[in-house]
Amino acid sequence: MFEIGAVDGAAKPELYRELAQSLRGLLEGERDITANAANTAALLAMLLPDLNWAGFYFTRDAGELVLGPFQGKPACVRIPAGRGVCGAAAAAGRSVLVRDVHEFPGHIACDTASQSELVVPLIVGGRVMGVIDLDSPLVGRFDAEDQRGIEQVAAIFAAACDWAL
Ligand code: SME
Repeated sequence: MFEIGAVDGAAKPELYRELAQSLRGLLEGERDITANAANTAALLAMLLPDLNWAGFYFTRDAGELVLGPFQGKPACVRIPAGRGVCGAAAAAGRSVLVRDVHEFPGHIACDTASQSELVVPLIVGGRVMGVIDLDSPLVGRFDAEDQRGIEQVAAIFAAACDWAL
């Protein structure tokens, strides 16, 4: 059984160090994308405070994003290429940090509780294979430290899986 030490109240750099270490252990020895995404979403939801949604969208035909494993309320299944915060991050191949979703034109509100959002692309061999999406009920929940931490999570996840390229 996988267990994790307490990280409540830890400063962000320490929290993300612990998260990265836990994730490496959790994904070790398994290369299945769905299984690894499910456990990664569960770990993110368990360790990061003030989230109402944490999960994956994967790139399908014509750049459409399709819902993957997640923790939170049921969400929009398909996001057309370039749409919403997720589509913007996937199209740019760069993380998008949104302080207040109401100020982001085209934001897709899957859960009306969401006030801020961080989307990080999954890049494998130069291709955007999907995104990790985090939503918070607090405005301004995410900062550059969170972005760096989740980019590291995305890199660990991408390296741990077998991708059909
Ligand atoms: N808000 C996202 C849609 C996905 S949900 O937050 C789970 C967006 O604008 O792309």
